[in-house]
Amino acid sequence: MIKTKVLKINDIDDVNLIEAAEILKKGGVVAFPTETVYGLGANAMDEKAIEKIFIAKGRPADNPLIVHVASVEDLKKLVSDINEKSEKLIKNFCPGPLTLIFNIDKKVAKNVTSGLNTLAIRIPDNPIARKLIALSGLPIAAPSANISGKPSPTEGEHVIDDLYGKVDCIIVSEQSKVGLESTIIDMTSKPPMLLRPGKITIEEIENIIGIIQVDKFLEKKIDEEIKPKAPGMKYKHYSPEAEVIIISGEYEKKIEKIKELKKLYSDKKIGIMCSDELVKFFLDDIYISLGSKENLDDIATKLFASLRKFDDLGVDIVLAEDYDTKGMGKAVMNRLNKAAGFNIINV
Ligand code: TXA
Ligand code: MG
Repeated sequence: MIKTKVLKINDIDDVNLIEAAEILKKGGVVAFPTETVYGLGANAMDEKAIEKIFIAKGRPADNPLIVHVASVEDLKKLVSDINEKSEKLIKNFCPGPLTLIFNIDKKVAKNVTSGLNTLAIRIPDNPIARKLIALSGLPIAAPSANISGKPSPTEGEHVIDDLYGKVDCIIVSEQSKVGLESTIIDMTSKPPMLLRPGKITIEEIENIIGIIQVDKFLEKKIDEEIKPKAPGMKYKHYSPEAEVIIISGEYEKKIEKIKELKKLYSDKKIGIMCSDELVKFFLDDIYISLGSKENLDDIATKLFASLRKFDDLGVDIVLAEDYDTKGMGKAVMNRLNKAAGFNIINV
């Protein structure tokens, strides 16, 4: 057990932020809020500090980390191959929920990139995150602050559940606004390639830099043979203890199918995860509504917290409604498909 300091911080002038930054400078590991999900940070130049992240999360060593910096100026200190398209994306979306991959220029600790010769970088938009990074004066490598395989944390409480006693410090702040991890674009591919969908959508990116490619493994169940470009995408992910089954298709048919499955699994504790539009049919069940299906940003914000909540409720099976894959829906369905291990019933 490590002694974990829990700091409640909601103001960038809070002196506790200086203490958290000191922990980072001394090679410690600090969980902090970002606008996407909470991250677990350490000095990207310090191999020993980075090792602590992998141990705390139980993260496979071949899964590289994203380096977080406070400003465009600091980003440019780490990479030099910033072409015109990258400049445009940086100008439009950074700080924000976007990660860009470049060829490595300045060396960070080698376990940050798991031996790859590319580096993923992002400038978070959350003011606490940025102030913390600026105060540390360091590039901060940070994966999501969950135990590997579990849904990413969108509340400080989730981080405490997963990492208390395993890290030096946990900053508890507001709920993550976006709720899903950053969009990842590999800028070393020609044309640039989407490796993970997120709040910044393909449409928004293509509006700025023209056509991009999409990693063809993004929507598929990944087996041993397949190598996605973002190594982390091959692992079982976002999984609650409960089995998740997605019900996909027309509205009326989905309702019927969920009712049928409830009967079929009558010996199990069933949870229904759906939109406001569908929830009225299941008010006698254990249910969580993620919001209107017309508001995919809302659905995204609540998805991971809801998957965790079903575990707290001791549910065996989550029957989950599917969503449109327009805009943010692509990221929502990417995470939901993974949480369900691509266990989808089409009706
Ligand atoms: O929103 C986010 O990006 C959050 C917050 C904390 O910033 N971070 C996050 O980190 O989601 P993580 O470690 O959970 O996911 C990073 C993903 C993994 O799938 C990893 O394989 C991929 O990024 N990745 C990192 N470096 C890469 C590289 N050089 N090439 C390809 N994929 C990379
Ligand atoms: Mg993660």
